[in-house]
Amino acid sequence: MQEQCARPDTHQYPSNRGRPSFRRAVAGFYERRFGVDLDPETEVIPALGAKEAIANLNLALLDPGDVVLASDPGYPVYTTGPIIAGAEPVPMPLVPELGFQPDLDAIPAGVAGRARIMYLNYPNNPTGAVIEDDLFARVVEFARRNDVIVVHDNAYSEITFDGYTAPSFLETPGAADVGIEVFSLSKTYNMTGWRAGAVVGNADVLRAYWQLKTNIDSGMFEALQEAAVAALDSDQATVAEMCALYARRRDTLVEALRALGLDVNSPKGTIYVWARVPAGESSASFAERLLEEARVVVSPGAAYGPSGEGFVRMSLTVPDDRLDEAAERIAGLVRSTA
Ligand SMILES: Cc1ncc(COP(=O)(O)O)c(C=O)c1O
Repeated sequence: MQEQCARPDTHQYPSNRGRPSFRRAVAGFYERRFGVDLDPETEVIPALGAKEAIANLNLALLDPGDVVLASDPGYPVYTTGPIIAGAEPVPMPLVPELGFQPDLDAIPAGVAGRARIMYLNYPNNPTGAVIEDDLFARVVEFARRNDVIVVHDNAYSEITFDGYTAPSFLETPGAADVGIEVFSLSKTYNMTGWRAGAVVGNADVLRAYWQLKTNIDSGMFEALQEAAVAALDSDQATVAEMCALYARRRDTLVEALRALGLDVNSPKGTIYVWARVPAGESSASFAERLLEEARVVVSPGAAYGPSGEGFVRMSLTVPDDRLDEAAERIAGLVRSTA
C-alpha cells in the first residue's frame, strides 16, 4: 500500500469495474482456493467492503413490497438494507439444533413466493457455525423453485480452525445460476479500515449492482486495489498464523466459560464465541451485568435478531492478556452469584 500510494497514477478516479489486475487477482484466488472459475470481465466487481455491497444490493435488486429472507441472528445489514430499499425483511431463524442452519422447509409458501433475496453467511457471524453438510445444495434447489437470489456473505471463509476448510457457495453445482457471493478482505488480511471486498458470481446480478454503483460511488482507491492484489496473491502464511492465534484465544475463552457451566460451542470459524446466557437471564440483562459488574463488554445476542435472544457474542480480537483477564473477571462474577 505504501509503495502504491507513492505512485501518482493510483490517485486518479478509478473505474467502478475495478482494475483488470484486481479482477484477475480475485478470480485467481477463487480458482486456487475454491476451485471456482470466475470470468474477471463479468463475474467480479470490487466492493468498498462487504457492508457497502450488501446494502447496495438491496437497492439494486428489490422493489417496494418484496420480501428478503434474512438469517436470524445475522449481520444487521441483512435487515436494515431491505428496509432502506422499501422491502420487507423476514427473519429466517438459524436453528441451534440444526447447527445454526435455517429450516428451509419451515419457510411458509406465501413468504417464499414473495421472497427476492436470501442472505446467508457461513462461517457465521454471530454463531460461529460452519457448513459441513449439503445446506448449500438445498439452498440452490430452494432458490430455483422460488426464484430467489441467494447472497452468500463470505466474510469469514479464511478464518477457520481445527483443520476445517470453508467452502464457497459458488462451489455448489448450480449456485452461479441463482446467486452471488460477497467476499471481504477485512478480516482475512486485517484490512477492516481500508474498505476492500468483491462481489462475485452471477453476471446479471453483478450488472445490476454495478449499474447502481456507477451512480453512487466512484470506485475503489487504486492503490488499495493493488494492495488487495498483493494480499490475494500472497502465500497466505499470515492468514494461517492469525488463525492459529484466534484458535488459541478461542480455546482459552471456551474453556473458561465451560468451567463456569455456561453452554458454549467451540466454533470452527469466525472471530466470535456464541454462548447461552445463564438460566434466568436475558441477552440484555446478562450483557449489562457483565458490563456493570465485571467491566467486560459483550454483545447481547438479540441485537442480531430475535433468534439471538438467550445468547451473547464475545469477540476474539483483543490481545491474549486482555482476553485472559476478561475470562477471569467473568469467572469471578458467575462464581459470586452461583
Ligand atoms: C458477516 C459479516 N459480513 C460483513 C461484514 C463487513 O465486512 P466489511 O468490512 O468487508 O464491510 C462483517 C463485519 O463484521 C460481518 O461480520
